[in-house]
Parts: sequence; C-alpha cells; structure tokens
Amino acid sequence: MTIDNPLDSVSERDLARRHLLPHFTKGQAWDHDNLGVIERGEGCYVYDTDGVEYLDGLAGLFCTNMGHGRQDFAAAAAKQMEKLGFYPTWGWANPPAIEAASMIAERAPGDLSEVFFVSSGSEAVESVLKFARSYHVARGESDRYKVISREWSYHGTTLGGLAVTGVPKFRNPFLPMLWDGVRHVRNTYGDTSDVLASAAAVEEMILAEGPETVAAVIAEPVQNGRGGLVPPDGYWPELRRICDKYGVLLVADEVICAFGRFGHWFASERFGVVPDMITFAKGVTSAYQPLGGMIARRSLVETIWESDMAAYMHGATFGGHPVATAVAVANMRAMADENILKHVLDNEDGFRARLDGLMDNHNCVKEVRGLGYFYAIELMADREGGVELSDEQRSALQGGLLGQWVRDARILVRPDDRGATMLTLSPPLVADADVLDDITERIDEVLTRTGGFLAG
Ligand SMILES: Cc1ncc(COP(=O)(O)O)c(C=O)c1O
Repeated sequence: MTIDNPLDSVSERDLARRHLLPHFTKGQAWDHDNLGVIERGEGCYVYDTDGVEYLDGLAGLFCTNMGHGRQDFAAAAAKQMEKLGFYPTWGWANPPAIEAASMIAERAPGDLSEVFFVSSGSEAVESVLKFARSYHVARGESDRYKVISREWSYHGTTLGGLAVTGVPKFRNPFLPMLWDGVRHVRNTYGDTSDVLASAAAVEEMILAEGPETVAAVIAEPVQNGRGGLVPPDGYWPELRRICDKYGVLLVADEVICAFGRFGHWFASERFGVVPDMITFAKGVTSAYQPLGGMIARRSLVETIWESDMAAYMHGATFGGHPVATAVAVANMRAMADENILKHVLDNEDGFRARLDGLMDNHNCVKEVRGLGYFYAIELMADREGGVELSDEQRSALQGGLLGQWVRDARILVRPDDRGATMLTLSPPLVADADVLDDITERIDEVLTRTGGFLAG
C-alpha cells in the first residue's frame, strides 16, 4: 500500500499503526487516532503533519542540542555523501572519522585521547564493558569481570547495557539473558557532601565481591533515572579514589551529559574527575546522524595491543561512519562558533529560577532537581501537608493523565515513572530566555491541571 498523498495524515497514521513498531510505547497508545506524526523542526519547535507546533522540551530525546532545522549540518552530510558515502574503520581510516576523533580527544578531560566510534549509546556502553574486560584480561587479571552500577540508572537496551541498567521494569523480563556480574548499589539520591553514602556503597560492594573480581564502576555524572540526580560535591573524586585503590576502571556514561548539556564538553570536567573511559552519543551530532562512542586512555589501549590479544576484539560495520562523523565535526564547530557552552552556563540559573518559581506556585511539586539544561520536577500530592501520591493517584498520572496534559500544552517533555512520578526537561541548548519562558508557561499549565486533579 502506498500513500497517495503524503500529506494525508489519516492514511499516514494508519500505515504507522500497521507497519511501524514503536520503541517503549504501549500498544494501546500507539493504536490511537491521535498518534502524532512529527514531520518538521525549527530551532526549539517541531511540527506535526497537521501543522500543530510543539515546544521540544526534551531535545528529541536529550540529543538535538543545537536545535532543529540546521542547514549547515545538512550541507555537511550531503557534501560527505557526495565524496565518500561509506567506508569501514576496520584496518582503514577516513578523513571525517579522523577529524571527529581528534576534536573529541582535544575536548575530553585529562589524558583521555583514544576515540572508538559506534552508532548509539547502548553500543557505546557495550564497548566500555567489553573494553574493561579486555584490559583486565590483557593484564592477566582474568577474574575481573564484574561491574558495579547504580539503582535506577539507565545505560541502554542491548544485553550488556541492559544488565548494568538499574530500572527493574526494563531488566526483569530479560533476567535469564543478562550476565551475572552486575551489582547495583544505591545512587546519590539523599546524599549530602558530608555523607557520601552512595560512594561508600561502591567501596563496600567492591570489598564484598573481592576487588580482584571487579572490572569497572559505571555511572552517569548526573543520573537521569530517578530524576536529575546531581551528585554532591566530592562524590566523583571519591569514586576516583576508590577505583584507583582497588585497580577498578571508572567509567562515566555521558550519553546524555556530554556535549554541552551541563555547560561543558564533558560533564566529568564539571565534577572534577578524569575517568578511565567516557561514553558519548546523542549530542555529539545533535542527533542529526546516529553516532556514539567511547574515549579511553592511551595506556589502556596499549595494554591490550601489547598483550596476546593484540587487538580490541570488538567492532561494528558503521563504527566511524564518514557521514555521521562529518556531521559530528559540523556540530562541534557550530557549538564553538555559537558559544553554546557559555550560553548554557549563562542561562542555567535563570532556567532553575523559573522552575523554582513553578514549585513555589504549585503545591504538587515535591522537588526540582538538576543543573545546566537538564531538570526533573518530582510530584507529590500535597507538599505543604507532606503527603506523597497515593497508589491510585500515581497510576492515574503515570497511566496517561500526565501524558495527555503535556500533549495538550503542546510541550514535549517526559512524564517519567522511574522511581518517582516526575516530568523531565532537557531542551535544546540553543533555547534562549523566550523559549525558557515558553517552557515555564506550558509546564505551569500542566502543573495546574495536576494540582486540580490531586486536590479534587
Ligand atoms: C546514560 C545513557 N546511556 C546509554 C543510553 C543508550 O543510548 P541509546 O538509546 O542511543 O542506545 C542512554 C539513552 O538514553 C542513556 O541515557
């Protein structure tokens, strides 16, 4: 069946329902007359096939950092496709992959200098897990295979990434397929700079398991699952100290955090740490091309190359894809030319103040957490009375009400249920004061309806 008129949104929706399998979407929600078909974007706004405008308050999925509709990225992709559409990075290099790797290495914290490209965040996580294992095997420490991760963390959907993910509803159906070496410890929720209980939990777990069995610790600089968990001062340096003490590799999963979300090329820099490896994806191309990767220290790579293994036995056809890496180069140039890191740092306090203002005005807001251009608004029934959401309220809000109100307000933010009921905001980094005001007004509308429901 073909679509006679591509603008006929009724038949388009019908075809989507019949043939396009959505990701992480309930069948009932997909099989709906109201199924949205987004066809165009400009700056911080996207438009559906009915011409309705939405404010993209999530930057697609934490990734269209430089905004929608960039002609310079389109031109960079087209130019590269005309010259060389593809050649693999197996035994050969290509100019855009070289340039992108060099630019990333230049911007990476400390002495992290070796860039391994893949096509997504999940693959980036697979890559660090296998790299950590390879490194220890190369050093003759082949008992080291365990990885310590944190509760409610999200590290992707492929089996390795899913194993380290700490969101029960994503993992549980697949438990028999997940490797047995992952241990989850508490995240930084509830920690203070005086009491770094979550860092202590990492050390206790290493000791309980036996340091000689632990390969790596993986954590996001700011954890998304459980909602905008900004670590207290000293947390990352403490993780660094613990990992050094026991010969464990420290991995910062910066799939969301890198490329400006917190006003730095890499958030590790903001938290004062040089990890052994960093993962990235999403914002490296502002999502105009699928690209991810990991960055490692030279000495780790050399350890593997100089061992009997001789090579890092891992790869993918599209790793270092010339078109994707050409777009990464264009994106990093635009970020520098447009001074986007400074823009985020200049505006983060204003963004925060707007959200704190919403909290003051809405008794259903329990807490606003976050930093930079990334925030979670956690909900409760009655803040002044200290009443949490009841099970019924939680399931009604998470079961569709919040989603409907967000959509009615024409703002794309995420109603999140990972460990609490929340709204997650992560707009394109190009959002200026007007866009931040617009976000605030639309969220105000959502919170007014939420408050009305909870009071009624
Ligand atoms: C921290 C983190 N790691 C890994 C992933 C997986 O990335 P992808 O969806 O590109 O596979 C995500 C995705 O949101 C993420 O947030």
